Order: sequence, then C-alpha cells, then structure tokens
Amino acid sequence: MNRRSKRKMKKICLVIFILILIIVSLLFVYKMVIKNPSDSPKEPAIDNVVDDSKDNTSPLVTSLKKEEYFIEKNLDRYLNYIQKYPDKSMTEVVSSVNANIDYDYYTHSIDTDINVGYLMLVNKFYKLSSDYVPDLVQMDDQYNHNKGYKMMNRTAYEHFKEMAAAAREDGITLFNVSAYRSYATQEILYNNYASRDGKEAADTYSARAGYSEHQTGLASDINTSSSSAHFENTKEYAWLQKNAYKYGFILRFPKDKEKITGYKYEPWHYRYVGVEAATYIYEHDITLEEYYAYFVENK
Ligand code: DAL
Ligand code: ZN
Repeated sequence: MNRRSKRKMKKICLVIFILILIIVSLLFVYKMVIKNPSDSPKEPAIDNVVDDSKDNTSPLVTSLKKEEYFIEKNLDRYLNYIQKYPDKSMTEVVSSVNANIDYDYYTHSIDTDINVGYLMLVNKFYKLSSDYVPDLVQMDDQYNHNKGYKMMNRTAYEHFKEMAAAAREDGITLFNVSAYRSYATQEILYNNYASRDGKEAADTYSARAGYSEHQTGLASDINTSSSSAHFENTKEYAWLQKNAYKYGFILRFPKDKEKITGYKYEPWHYRYVGVEAATYIYEHDITLEEYYAYFVENK
C-alpha cells in the first residue's frame, strides 16, 4: 500500500469512527428521553408527597390546611385516605376522615362523651353503654300517636313542645312516633329487622343496640317512621325543613349524606342539638358528625 492509499484508508477509518460515535450518541438519547420517559422529570408520586409531608410544607399539606374543617391531629389519616382514594376532593377527604369513614363501620368504637350533653354523638363509631339512661320525661298525649315510644330527654322535650306549638300556629300538627328507646328495645328492634332483611340491609336503616341515638332521648321520629309513607312529600316535612333548626332540631340523616351518617335518608328523624349547633348545621349543610368532629371533639 502506497502513502496515498494509506492516508485515504486513515480518512475512511476516521469517518467510520465518527459515524459510530454519532450512532451511539443517538441510541443513548433515544433510550434516555424517548423510550424511557419515566426517567425524565415529572410530578412526584403520592408516596413521595406523603413522605415529603413530614416537613409540613408540601403542596398537598398546604391545600389540606386551607380546608375549612381541617383538624391537625387527623393529618396522617387525611394523607393515607388520599393514597387510597386519590380522586376524592380535599373537602371530601377532610369531611370523611373527620367522620371516621376511613375506618369500617362498627370496627372502631369510641365511648360517647355524655358530658357534652345534647351535643353528644352516637353513631356507628360512638356508642353508649347498655345501662345509659338519660333524664327522661313522658311526652303529653297530644304529641303522640297511640302507640310508640313516648319518653324524651327533658331539655329536648321542652324544645319539641315549642316547635310543635309554632307548627300548630301554621296549621301543622307534629306527632312523635318514636323518641327514647332503651338499649334492650333497640336490640329487639334491630334483631327483628336483621332476621327479616339480613344484617347488611338492616345496618342501612337500623342501629345496633348501643349505637342508636334514640337511646339518648334526644331524637324523635316525627309523624311516621315508615320509609314507604314518603314523609318527604308532606306539608309537615316542608315545615320542618324550613323551621326545625330554630328550635334546635336537625334532620339527622339527610339525603346524599348516607356515607357520612352511615344511614339511608330518614326524612322523619329529628335530633335535638341546641339552637346554636342546629343553626350552624342547617346553614352550612353539614352533618352532626362533621360538626361534632370540628366544634366539639376538636376543642
Ligand atoms: N333508624 C335509626 C338509624 C336508628 O335505628 O337509630
Ligand atoms: Zn329515628
């Protein structure tokens, strides 16, 4: 091989080397950026957000803290709930966890704090002991159907009478069908429903013994306790919807709040909570569960 051919050979080798270099670089870029985009920067996963939340400055914690009913001690539970249900809004996360919905019903029982009086909470998480009996009075016959449970908490009854009198002035008669029910009575009722419809169905409309707020004496089923009677279509219901809170009563199991309260809509079931709480609950369209978590238990 002469000198000229040698130089030509060198040039060819150099060109081939540069070409290989370009191909290798292109392959590297393809692998890093196009084929494996997960290696490129992106939004942090919820796992990382939860870990980052420890410093209390993550965007998730910041937006949780902006929620109206945010409770500091529930922070870890909010974050765990978000991991489980990433599509829920922050408002829903806060209200669900505050109402203990991150636990299954009847798996996380807390003794009802009876010291808060007519604000006490009894539901699928808060229970009364079998021997709890409130300060009861017998309701006058004019407020009762012939049969039914006629005993009521003394304070609640005073306000029930005021409410019934105001309703009467508007041409509305409010009857109590069922107010106080003892632990033993509730046990019989629930067991009857459970053997008739099965436990799962009974749990949607009847409380297990110890978990019914009828045992507080602060609740009254008004005019009817039968879902087939469509009490929501009556003038009595319309009056209660507009006025009950003025006398300290709330509709306890509203429509569309079944998940929070744990029960199907009960247009007949009213609960005395005092005028202040009733007005707040009515005006802010929240449940007793949400009110209790933020304004009573959180204090
Ligand atoms: N029906 C209501 C939920 C009760 O049994 O207390
Ligand atoms: Zn009831």
